[in-house]
Amino acid sequence: MTTEPESVAPIAPTLLLEVAVETAREAGALLREKLGAPRQIRFKSAHNDLVTDGDQAAEALITARVRARFPDHRILAEEGATGAPISPYRWLIDPVDGTTNFAHNVPAFAVSIGVEHDDQLQAGVVYNPASDELFAAALGHGATLNGQPIAVTPIWRPESALVGCGAITFRRQGRTIKAARAFWNITQGCRTTGAAALDLCYVACGRFELFCAPSLRPWDVAAGALIVREAGGEVTDFDGGPHRLDRQDILASNGAVHSFALGVVRGEITGHPTIAGRLKALRKRTASRK
Ligand code: IPD
Ligand code: CA
Ligand code: CA
Repeated sequence: MTTEPESVAPIAPTLLLEVAVETAREAGALLREKLGAPRQIRFKSAHNDLVTDGDQAAEALITARVRARFPDHRILAEEGATGAPISPYRWLIDPVDGTTNFAHNVPAFAVSIGVEHDDQLQAGVVYNPASDELFAAALGHGATLNGQPIAVTPIWRPESALVGCGAITFRRQGRTIKAARAFWNITQGCRTTGAAALDLCYVACGRFELFCAPSLRPWDVAAGALIVREAGGEVTDFDGGPHRLDRQDILASNGAVHSFALGVVRGEITGHPTIAGRLKALRKRTASRK
């Protein structure tokens, strides 16, 4: 909680965004230079949990810029960098979201920087240096892609939706929820960019209607969650409650398909035609042949 002296004026979200954007562009340029060049890759917890010299260099650059500008702010960064111990402001930094893509030269990765004040997200930037796409939002000021305003789609029919969904099946409260199967059966299909921050931004700019993931960390989603909300979308946990960074489940959508998506992640909508539904369809087909 806040320990900031009352006399200190709050920092405008647009100023926080300005610093975040400048820093993300600088880190992005560093990563772009490393793309295609030999990289040092280390494994963290498992064979599929990578960190490269690019992640570390980008994180060092971003945190140096933040510390220089806001020495009294806290920092939570994926590769472990920290800032001041106590502050109502916290920077949530993923120097490379989509590290595995980056390591394989797949051009779908992003620098993701979010800033919160007393647990409320103020500013967020997601920058893919390979495509030069920069998604940004400041609280109350809308969301943009390369400076142009963006908005979620109005699509409400699940069968017209494209879904960002990385996990095939996952366990929750002892149940295996086959969300992806249901999404595949009911919607136009599932995609994952391999970078959750980009998946969220794809909802914000209308490429996807929804994105769901069961186990993300604060630095993966801080910036993207604000960008979706500022683009007119909805972001909750799998119970439909407000999304919090300390929870790992996230469901982001254009709002119009949100209750459908909640039904799927709760396991209530499975995408399997019921017996009654199958019989009805069969009767219809038989009748049309007569
Ligand atoms: C990963 C990406 C990926 C998601 C993983 C994250 P990283 O982040 O966002 O899309 O499925 O859960 O850990 O490790 O590339 O920063
Ligand atoms: Ca990440
Ligand atoms: Ca990362």
